[in-house]
Amino acid sequence: MNKRKILVTSALPYANGSIHLGHLVEYIQTDIWVRFQKMQGHEVHYVCADDTHGTPIMLRAEQEGITPKQLIERVWHEHKADFDGFHVGFDNYYTTDSPENQEFCEDIYRQLEAKGLIAKRSVEQFYDPVKQMFLPDRYIKGECPKCHAKDQYGDSCEACGATYSPINLIDPYSTVSGATPERKASKHHFFRLSDLRCRTFLEKWVFESFEGQSGVTPEVKRRLQPEAANKMNEWLAGGLVDWDISRDAPYFGFPIPGTAGRKFFYVWLDAPVGYFGSFKNYFKQTQRSQAEIDEFLRPGGNTEMMHFIGKDILYFHALFWPAMLEFSGYRTPTQIYAHGFLTVNGQKMSKSRGTFITAESYLTHGLNPEWLRYYYAAKLNDGMEDIDLNFDDFIARVNSDLVGKYINIASRCSGFVTRKFGGALTDAISESNRKWFNQFLFCELGEGDTFLGRHVSIAYFYDRREYGKAIREIMLAADVANQYVDRMKPWELAKNDENYTELHQVCSVALNMFRILTVYLKPVLPKLAAEAEQFLGVDSLTWKDANSQNRLLPDGHQINDYKHLMRRIDSRQIEALIDANKESLQSAAQPSKTEQPVQTMEGNPSIPSSPSENGKEVKIAAAAMVTIDDFARIDLRVAKILNAEHVEGADKLLKLTLDIGLEQRTVFAGIKSAYDPEQLKGRLTIMVANLAPRKMKFGMSEGMVLAAGDENGGPYLLAPDEGAQPGMRVK
Ligand code: 2FM
Ligand code: ZN
Repeated sequence: MNKRKILVTSALPYANGSIHLGHLVEYIQTDIWVRFQKMQGHEVHYVCADDTHGTPIMLRAEQEGITPKQLIERVWHEHKADFDGFHVGFDNYYTTDSPENQEFCEDIYRQLEAKGLIAKRSVEQFYDPVKQMFLPDRYIKGECPKCHAKDQYGDSCEACGATYSPINLIDPYSTVSGATPERKASKHHFFRLSDLRCRTFLEKWVFESFEGQSGVTPEVKRRLQPEAANKMNEWLAGGLVDWDISRDAPYFGFPIPGTAGRKFFYVWLDAPVGYFGSFKNYFKQTQRSQAEIDEFLRPGGNTEMMHFIGKDILYFHALFWPAMLEFSGYRTPTQIYAHGFLTVNGQKMSKSRGTFITAESYLTHGLNPEWLRYYYAAKLNDGMEDIDLNFDDFIARVNSDLVGKYINIASRCSGFVTRKFGGALTDAISESNRKWFNQFLFCELGEGDTFLGRHVSIAYFYDRREYGKAIREIMLAADVANQYVDRMKPWELAKNDENYTELHQVCSVALNMFRILTVYLKPVLPKLAAEAEQFLGVDSLTWKDANSQNRLLPDGHQINDYKHLMRRIDSRQIEALIDANKESLQSAAQPSKTEQPVQTMEGNPSIPSSPSENGKEVKIAAAAMVTIDDFARIDLRVAKILNAEHVEGADKLLKLTLDIGLEQRTVFAGIKSAYDPEQLKGRLTIMVANLAPRKMKFGMSEGMVLAAGDENGGPYLLAPDEGAQPGMRVK
C-alpha cells in the first residue's frame, strides 16, 4: 500500500454564530475520514479555521460594543471548545484573520493581476448615507414589488416567494440605520472568470479522472460526485461571469494591495485561502521547511488536497477556488466532497420547535457526543442528499447497536475472564470456536464459496465516505459475535468446572471479536475506543490490528477490569434538550448564542443556501404564532433585584440576584452596556422563572430578565407598575 499524503479541510465556520448540530454533520464526516486514513498509516493533515471577515461580523462587533478582533477571539474559543467536545481532531484550528492568510491572498491577487485576470469596473449599489457604508443585500428591506408585503429582504420576498434585486424594492430602508439608501457607484475589482482560459481550465479540471487509491486498492477517481459534476455542467453551460472580489471600506478584512486601504478582499475570497493559511501556520509551528509546505500547496507534489463542504458552497469551491489557484501558481484541489443538509425529525431545524440545537447545549445536557457521531455515521453516504436526525431512531439505534450489540460483548464475557482466569486470555482455540471466529472476520461474497475479510470491505466503504454501509457491515459482524455468545452461553459453562477450558476459549474469542469491532469503530468512536483499548490492555489500535495474519491476542494476554463503557440514551434527556432549545420569548437581556445573526453569502442569490445558514428560518421562528397554551407554559414573574454586580471577564453581563417571592435566583443578564449595577438594586423587573438553568462560563444562570431593544437602542429593562410584588405571576 502506498503511503498517501493528504491535506484535508472542512468548511470554515463563520465567527459570528454558534456551532450547531447541522454544522456537525460535516465536521464529524470529515473527522471520521481523517481518523480512518490515519489508522491506515497515511500522512494526513486536517486543518480548519474560523471564517472571520465581512460585514456581518463587523456590525455584530459594533453592536456588542467591542472590536471585530475581540469578537472573533471570543468566538474562536467557543468554536474550539465545541469541536473538542465532539472529538473533532483538527491538527490545526486557526483563523482567517492571520498574517499567513493575508500573505497568500495578496500573492494570489498579484499573480492573477499579472496574468490579466483582474478587471476593475464601476458598480452601482445601495449606500447607507447615515452609516456611510455600502449595504449588502441582506441589510436592505422594503416593500415587495410583487405582493406589496412590507419588510421584505433585498433579494426575495418571504410572503410570495418572488426574487428580485434590491433596487426593485418599494420604499427601501437600511436595516443598519433605518435610513433610506441611496444608489451610489464605486469601482470594484473582479476576478475575470469569464476569460476563456478559466473556462478551458475548469472544463478540463471538473471532468478529468485520475488514478487514486481507495481503501487498499488503486482505482480511477473523479474530482466531484456525479450530482456535483452535473451542477457544474449546468453552471458552465450557463456561462461564467466575472466575480466581484472587492468591498468598499468600512469592511473587516484584508486591504487589496494598491488601493490605499479603500478596498478590501470580499470575505469569500479570503475564506478558502484560509485553508492554506491554517496549513502553513501548522507546518511552521511543527518546524517543517518551506519545501515541505510547498509539497502540499504547489503543483507537482505527490500529495492530495481534499475539501469537505456543504452542497450550498459548491459554487465557491468548484468554480472560483480551483480557477484562482490554477492561475496564481498554486495546486488545485484533488477532490471536493459535498454533503447535504441536516433535517431534524424530518423538518428544517427550527428554533420554535427546539430542534435548532447548539453543540454546546447538546454537551451541557449530558448527551454523549459519540452517540451523535455514531448516528451520523450510520446515516452518511457519498451523496449530496439531506440526512435526517430522527430522535426516536437515534435512541433506538444507539441503544441497540452500540450498547446492545457492541458493548454487550465485553460486558457479558469480561467478568468470567477476570474472575476465573486471572484476566488472562487463551489463543488455544478449538476448530469449532475458530469457525465462529472466521465467520466473524469474513463476509460471504456470491455463492458462499468466496470470502472477503470484513476489514477490506469496511475500509473500502470508509474511504468512499459510505459510512452507512461500513456501519452496516460492522453491525453484521457484531451480530455474529452476539450469536456466538448466545449459543455458547458462557454463564452456563461457568456453572461447571469441567467446562472451564471451553469457557476460557469462548470468552477469549468473544473478547477478540470485541477488539476487532473496536478497530472497525475507532474512526467513529475515538474516545470509546481509547477506553476499550485500556480495558483490553492493548496499545492504540490501527487498521493493521484487524488484518494481521493472526488476529487473536497472544496466549496469556492480560485484560484489565471491565468498567461500563457506555450507557443507554434515556428519551427524557432528548425531551429536556429540545425543551431547552425552544425559543419562545427571547429577550435582549439574555445573551443567547443561538440568537446571533447568521452570516450569508453576500450577493450570490443563485446559490441555494442551507436552512441553517440563510438566517431566514430564524426570522420565521421569531414571528411564528403561538397558542395561548404555549404562552401559558412560560412562567413570568415579578422579580425584585436584590443585588447587581459586575462579572469579572464578562463584557456584556451583570450578575443579578433576584427575589421572586418564595425563592431567590441568580441570573446573568446582558445589560451591562445600559445599566450601572447600583442603579438597579431594589427595582422591580420581570423574569422568566421556568427557563431551564443554563451553565455559563461565569456560573449557573437560573432564568432570564426581560428587556426590549433593537439596533436603535436598548436593552431597556421591563418593569411592572407600582404595587406589583415580587413573585406575582405575569399573565
Ligand atoms: O458557508 C460558510 O459557512 C462559510 N463560512 C464557509 C467558508 S468555507 C471556505 F471557503 F473557507
Ligand atoms: Zn411578495
